[in-house]
Amino acid sequence: MTTFAFDVYGTLIDTSGVTRQLALFLDELAGEFSTLWREKQLEYSFRRGLMEDYNTFAGCTADAFDYCCERFSLELNDHQRSELLGSYQTLPAFEDAAPSLQLLAEQGLPLWAFSNGTADAVNGVLGHAGLLPYFKGVVSVDDVKTFKPSPKVYRHFTQCSGSDAKDCWLVSSNPFDIIGAIRYGMKTAWVQRNPDTVFDRFGVVPHLTLPSLSHLPKTLEY
Ligand code: 2OP
Repeated sequence: MTTFAFDVYGTLIDTSGVTRQLALFLDELAGEFSTLWREKQLEYSFRRGLMEDYNTFAGCTADAFDYCCERFSLELNDHQRSELLGSYQTLPAFEDAAPSLQLLAEQGLPLWAFSNGTADAVNGVLGHAGLLPYFKGVVSVDDVKTFKPSPKVYRHFTQCSGSDAKDCWLVSSNPFDIIGAIRYGMKTAWVQRNPDTVFDRFGVVPHLTLPSLSHLPKTLEY
């Protein structure tokens, strides 16, 4: 049966949602900080995967945050630091997420959240954003102690969801996630919200490229 794996951070949940809180400390540099924070968070997850030195995604997020604070000479007390890190649990959903998930769920399609985040973190952030009811469940890389795009995590997804890779669609805004899923034999829908985002050159292309999640239910009808 066709099964859907939805990436969470950057696809359903807007990681730049922390910019408003960051602006209280960094003014016009908040956007730059937020972008570097996300880039470093992902870089740390890749490096931990390669070194086989697993830490949770929240751990990578905290380490990346501390790196950025040093880069931007941002000095925070413990309370301010934990407030800003805590804001990762209350990040907002992208506007197109709920209506699209609702349409797909109404078609009876099995939807799963599939993330680098631990099950607790993903349940928390999706619950806060009101998206949790659309999902059959959450599959986390934490069970296999490595990160996307290791083939181990895509295999873990198929095992948890009881599906074959060829019947799975990975829906993600993150090119590295799309490429990892293609390599594992899944079908892929890349959500390219910003037309300036370039797809990495790895010798493969997504099966679908959509300007927003809203295009997914319509596209799948044909
Ligand atoms: C996620 O797994 C990659 O951040 C992305 O949710």
